[in-house]
Amino acid sequence: MLKHAHSGLRWVVLGLLIYAVFNAISKKGKGTFSAQDAKVNSLTTMFCHIQLLLGFALYFTSPKVVFSEAWMKNASQRFYGMEHLLLMLLAIVLITIGSAKAKRASSDEKKFKTTYLFFTLGLVLILAGIPWPFREALGGGWF
Ligand code: HEM
Repeated sequence: MLKHAHSGLRWVVLGLLIYAVFNAISKKGKGTFSAQDAKVNSLTTMFCHIQLLLGFALYFTSPKVVFSEAWMKNASQRFYGMEHLLLMLLAIVLITIGSAKAKRASSDEKKFKTTYLFFTLGLVLILAGIPWPFREALGGGWF
């Protein structure tokens, strides 16, 4: 159940992140940073944090996280034991910092620019860190 929740929640996280990035790009330089824009940023960050918690629960229970003698030489064990964790952790740290910095930025333009920069970086790292089904050695699904 945990695995399916974590797998399905990726689409919520991706959808919110893409929406937040396009929202920031489209209003950068012209719009006012409204309560609605702040809500989009907080909601995106909140779902990333839920995904992080589910990820940690999986990290200590998943049969894919194995620290055998040669785990660094096994593509799947290295991915789930280290690569997935580091990429996602870095992405979520960037998104959290971006959301907090945007809130405190001195102008509307800076708020959108900060959101756009930090959330785009986070999005790229998350896209790179997902065990997509076409990365066959990793055994991930679409949902
Ligand atoms: C935004 C962040 C994250 C996204 C989008 C994400 C996405 C995914 C996806 C799509 C899978 C494949 C599930 C399947 O088999 O269908 C997965 C598996 C996994 N993730 Fe994440 N993840 C994130 C963060 C994390 C973090 C931070 C950790 C560890 C602390 C983690 C630990 C795991 C583990 C251990 C598995 C393997 C579960 C299993 O198949 O037994 N994830 N993740």
